[in-house]
Amino acid sequence: MTNSPVSPWWSDAVFYQVYPRSFRDGNGDGVGDLDGVVEHLDHLSNLGVDAIWLNPVTVSPMADHGYDVADPRDVDPLFGGLGALDRLVEAAHAVGIKVTMDLVPNHTSSQHPWFQAALAAGPGSAQRQRYLFRDGTGPGGIHPPNNWPSIFGGPAWTRVVEPDGSPGQYYLHLFDPEQPDLNWENPEVFDDLEKTLRFWLERGVDGFRIDVAHGMAKPPGLPDMSLTGNALLRNSDDDPRFNNDAVHDIHRGIRSVLDDFPEAVTIGEIWVFDNADFAKYLRPDELHLGFNFRLVRADFDATEIKEAIENSLAAAELAGSPATWTLSNHDVEREVTRYGGGPDGLAKARAMALVLLALPGAVFVYNGEELGLPNVELPDDVLQDPVWERSGYSERGRDGCRVPLPWAGAAPPFDFSTSHDVWLPMPTEWTDLTVAAQERDPDSTLALFRRAIELRHGRGSFGPGVEFLEAPPHVLSFRGTDGVTCVVNTGTTPTALPPGDLLIASAALDDGQLPPQTAAWVR
Ligand code: NOJ
Repeated sequence: MTNSPVSPWWSDAVFYQVYPRSFRDGNGDGVGDLDGVVEHLDHLSNLGVDAIWLNPVTVSPMADHGYDVADPRDVDPLFGGLGALDRLVEAAHAVGIKVTMDLVPNHTSSQHPWFQAALAAGPGSAQRQRYLFRDGTGPGGIHPPNNWPSIFGGPAWTRVVEPDGSPGQYYLHLFDPEQPDLNWENPEVFDDLEKTLRFWLERGVDGFRIDVAHGMAKPPGLPDMSLTGNALLRNSDDDPRFNNDAVHDIHRGIRSVLDDFPEAVTIGEIWVFDNADFAKYLRPDELHLGFNFRLVRADFDATEIKEAIENSLAAAELAGSPATWTLSNHDVEREVTRYGGGPDGLAKARAMALVLLALPGAVFVYNGEELGLPNVELPDDVLQDPVWERSGYSERGRDGCRVPLPWAGAAPPFDFSTSHDVWLPMPTEWTDLTVAAQERDPDSTLALFRRAIELRHGRGSFGPGVEFLEAPPHVLSFRGTDGVTCVVNTGTTPTALPPGDLLIASAALDDGQLPPQTAAWVR
């Protein structure tokens, strides 16, 4: 099947990323869950989003908060079990919101029955062939099979104790030791993934965000790598752990299943920066959409933003697939903080929200972005991300962008939960950032997002590109195919707006001019 000439629902959709631990706690145990999402579905309807992307909710020991999957075809009791997912899909569909889930094909949990069976069965067994077990090197196999580091820090290999008690083989884990990599050369692995895909699609799920979609396939012989540039989401394009050619066969296999469900979408997490290589993942028989992280990497600077947009559009055009846009997610520092924090960081984040929502393609908003939440500086003793421990306590990890959302009230837990013991502490100074407080303020970040998404939907269908207009230094101006111009001022002096009706601005104009750190749409 080829990509259809009629625009599918996701082409210009606004996806809202729900980090389930942090959205809303429906059962009072201090951790968010799926019934919590159902309870606050009105927030998403009012925001006007088209779809939800749920971070993993499948059964997991939570070593990496769900990205260590022990049963891919059941929902963890922490999130309310399968019944809660069914309730969410039904309630979301009733208000016209699609539900997409995270799919984790690169690795499983070390508690997955397959991995437990592999440990018990010993070297040379069929059970070990589902993972990447290898003998060590050096006398008595004391060294790992190659020099690969784990993305979370430390070696990517862990040595096991064999069933007879002797020091044994090593298994590969690109992430945590509790996330052993699957052996994608073993056909059983795809067969099982196909069961998982069909299981959720038949239950009414509308698609998948595919974790580490540039991973899975490993290079023949697992050669050593250069050891510069190892970090979460910062791998380089010549890193042998990722982007190996055989990965495309895996995506073709996934697409052949998805084509039985033509309304369902796949969005790959693809940390590949060469446009031609990136575009390969989006060929008509592979993924529908690929996450593009260029805006996440761009500073609040007109030139950098323009380059990120041009580059993303060029990659999408090469692939003939819609572009995707994102400013943050559960793995990166929130943009308010990235842009410097405080009122300036917030002003820049609000301006960038208008840039994001003016672009053609699928847009992803990370929960809390619509409230202008900053990252949170958390004390050492509450940190939970495995990165903290694995990096030898040198990298604090991603907990600071995962703090629960403030809904109402004047003190933590701000109606996130009925429990005061929430899984990550919430800052006392978030009183003015709650949904309830922002609903009362017509100039709030929430109001800005609601209005911008409403206007975006009103613009109808976007063309594939934008036209960049001449602009003074530090100002970026681009026009969509429907004639709406977005102008963002990253400089230090006000700038003139083009003639036309002002549709929206991220801050009040200054004598008819666009102030620094502000964006506006004009028609
Ligand atoms: C990327 C996910 O976004 C991240 O949160 C996770 O830790 C790794 N993949 C490993 O699954």
